[in-house]
Amino acid sequence: MLIPFWQELLISTLVLLVPMYLYFRSSGRSKNPGALPINWPVMHMFPSLLANVHNLLDYFTLVLAGSGLNFRAHGPGGAGMRFFVTCDPANIRHIFTKNYTNFPKGTEFAAIFDIMGDSLFNVDGPLALRPRAKIHTVLSSPRLVASMEASCRDKVVSDLLPLLSHMANTGTVFDIQELMSRFMFDLASTALFGEDPGLLSIDMPHMDVSIAMDTVMEVGFFRHMMPACCWKAMRWLNIGPERKLGAAHTILRDFIAKMIERRNINKGHVNSDHEQEGVDIFSSYINDPDFSDYDFLRAGLIGLMLALRDTVRTTLSWIFYNLAQNPDVVSTIRNELTPIALRKASTAVGDMVIFEPEEIKSMVYLRATLYETLRLYPPAPLERKTVATDDIMPSGHKVHSGDTIFVSIYSMGRMEGVWGKDCLNYNPHRWLLEDGKLRYVPSHKFLSFNSGPRICPGKDIAVMQMKIVVATIVWNFDVEVTEGQSIRPKSSCILQMKNGLTVKLKKR
Ligand code: HEM
Repeated sequence: MLIPFWQELLISTLVLLVPMYLYFRSSGRSKNPGALPINWPVMHMFPSLLANVHNLLDYFTLVLAGSGLNFRAHGPGGAGMRFFVTCDPANIRHIFTKNYTNFPKGTEFAAIFDIMGDSLFNVDGPLALRPRAKIHTVLSSPRLVASMEASCRDKVVSDLLPLLSHMANTGTVFDIQELMSRFMFDLASTALFGEDPGLLSIDMPHMDVSIAMDTVMEVGFFRHMMPACCWKAMRWLNIGPERKLGAAHTILRDFIAKMIERRNINKGHVNSDHEQEGVDIFSSYINDPDFSDYDFLRAGLIGLMLALRDTVRTTLSWIFYNLAQNPDVVSTIRNELTPIALRKASTAVGDMVIFEPEEIKSMVYLRATLYETLRLYPPAPLERKTVATDDIMPSGHKVHSGDTIFVSIYSMGRMEGVWGKDCLNYNPHRWLLEDGKLRYVPSHKFLSFNSGPRICPGKDIAVMQMKIVVATIVWNFDVEVTEGQSIRPKSSCILQMKNGLTVKLKKR
């Protein structure tokens, strides 16, 4: 029987790669600190990248530290694997701001995240203009912002605090990363469609859509690291991670379609009494002719669901991990909260103090703590760009049309040359000036919210949500991280913890 071309290609690639991979793992050669990837015949640096793929962010960090913030890597000829990896702020400014039209995300990025179709998250240039202007208008509407603040605050009071109190009262050890995923899934869905699916509940309902979203990010990472022909062959054969991704796409598309349908049924009611119009994000898209194409609209909503849920829940988990290692930071946050908490003692819900969005807006140290977490643990740790035409970076490196650029945001936070000798220390004070005000740091150095024209339009909303959650938990509970856990990032486009983060709470 004749083997199809794709199967043949896949089998020969695996035959070449598996022995090299095993060799690297057993010999430990890949752990040679700071060394550039080994340039093998035929496969070039691909085996080194593959051998470190389980720990890619730390591997990039070591190599970047040893190579002056930039290095090149390339895989087998014809596989489209010519990489320039950087965490150099001058280069980042060039890529994201000064000459950004020369560095689109590119067609490969859009193929990797095909679930987001031609929506904003996958396109550049003229195609991005209208969707970008639209989402900026939507997210800056005072009505929407007020509604998102209120729903976050209400969710904390009605669901999060009772659940956490239950965990504390029963001495239950639980995974706070999963809890934050549930919390943010509900909040993202409420912001988008005005409907809370109720994943954050004491019964811990099944979270298949949330898991499908994780799969998109995990298989997306795998796709970034493989020659495109390999993962496309696997998709065609419907095997391995691609099979899992296909199922995840179906679950996610069905969920969004169901939410659109339900919201459309309620449309008449909403428009007739004007009570809710414009309060959730979807209402701003309902009658917009630019978004009348169903697939385009659904793809954009999937992108927004990911943007809203993934970033904040990931950051929240890392915050609690960092706070557990740094009790002095916890004390300083509590000191900052004390004047508000004392004023509120009489209005506390039960024995819990609730912080209102307005009250914590000006809390500088709390914001510094969030930024310090985002510096070391950026939820989107790698940015991918393509080179449109040959260019020279401020560092002097030449890049060529068709090259892929990986910007390691994760590594940038860990570079002495960028953040100083104490770059690895968790120190929110680095964000404060002597007069106690917040220090300005340009976005090409603090890239967690992106930089240039494509900077994140949800930054203020995200900061507000995280402040409400962190202030409320830190004030009302002591969070104790279970000892002996192995805390490391998952291989994913989102910096989730591989094994979650188990904690125990005590009421204060
Ligand atoms: C900790 C929280 C957050 C972080 C660290 C973050 C970070 C980012 C980053 C790195 C990008 C660029 C992604 C890319 O290059 O494809 C981005 C884009 C975006 N973010 Fe956020 N984000 C956060 C929260 C949010 C929230 C809560 C919203 C919505 C309310 C939001 C809405 C968006 C949108 C619409 C874009 C696309 C902008 C464009 O392509 O022009 N983000 N964000």
